[in-house]
Amino acid sequence: MEAEDFAAHLTATMTGSALTMLIGVGHRTGLFEAAARGRATSAELAERAGLQERYVREWLGAMVTGGIFTYAEPHYTFPPEHARFLLGETASNMMSSLLTLSAFTGILPDLERAFAEGGGVPRSAYGPYLETLGAKPGDSWKHIYREHLVDGFFGAVPGLTDRLTAGARVLDLGCGTGNAIAVAARAFPASRFTGLDINPNVVEQARGIDLPNAGFAVGDAAELSADPPYDVITAFDAVHDQDRPDVVLRRVRGALAPDGLFFMVDTDFSSDVAANVGNPLAALTYSISLMYCTTTSLAEGGAALGAMWGREKARQMLADAGFRHVDVLDSPRPQNCIYVCRP
Ligand SMILES: C[S@@+](CC[C@H](N)C(=O)[O-])C[C@H]1O[C@@H](n2cnc3c(N)ncnc32)[C@H](O)[C@@H]1O
Repeated sequence: MEAEDFAAHLTATMTGSALTMLIGVGHRTGLFEAAARGRATSAELAERAGLQERYVREWLGAMVTGGIFTYAEPHYTFPPEHARFLLGETASNMMSSLLTLSAFTGILPDLERAFAEGGGVPRSAYGPYLETLGAKPGDSWKHIYREHLVDGFFGAVPGLTDRLTAGARVLDLGCGTGNAIAVAARAFPASRFTGLDINPNVVEQARGIDLPNAGFAVGDAAELSADPPYDVITAFDAVHDQDRPDVVLRRVRGALAPDGLFFMVDTDFSSDVAANVGNPLAALTYSISLMYCTTTSLAEGGAALGAMWGREKARQMLADAGFRHVDVLDSPRPQNCIYVCRP
């Protein structure tokens, strides 16, 4: 990149960071909600949101010049085609990812210490920052499951929805707050779903899902028992963060019925950094991987696969765990793919 282009690239990078912070401000102050009610002057919007006009006007300046709002004097408009990416209960809403990214700034001093001294930042360190900034990381996946789990994810695998309709024993590994099971258990009442997660707090929340064919347990996937066997084991965004992913994959293989299927949704990149150059999601995912996945694993003495472990590494680890047939399918999200793994 030429020097001038590089300077422009850095300026754009700073602008993105600054807008990410101000998008969080807009979320927490209710400005996006207020602006979505229709065009307004800065005074009208401030009044609508119960805020100080001077602050609102400067924020609006950033939103307009940052390409989020439009302006035709004296009115500011939050176009509905933009609003759906920052408001509402749909899979397009990116707010929870934006808020989560801002929250990572809180752990940077600990991360930098780990760069020098080793170790990592424990998962428990993130909670206060996420809470302060209003981030609920499971939220984006919640909407994705509702819109895409049955047709987009399960529907991508020939025969899988038929099998679930007929009745299967299903384990969701690293189930979090149970968002995938909440959708799947309703869609496939003849199947029995068990959610497993190592974090008791999220399992407690998942237990609020009151469905006759769904249950949740606290447990370590690295100690998954082979009895009872499962017909289908799913893992949504839950394998690359494992402290002992090799052990977990072997346990999953061992816990599958002979004709069972492991449905692993994970990030879709190459293991080779050179092959990721030009992928518009790569720098963001390496950054998130460093600020969360890698360091939280290192804090536990884990394998630190990171979110960018890539297809080649994933295929190798799945083969080492005893999966002889692995197909990699596109998923409804460009940053993820589906590994369909059979013994
Ligand atoms: C990124 S979250 C994904 C949660 C959920 N699948 C979803 O899509 O919302 C990964 C989850 O894996 C869980 N997890 C990590 N290591 C685990 C282990 N060894 N055994 C069980 N769960 C684990 C974490 O507690 C976390 O809830």
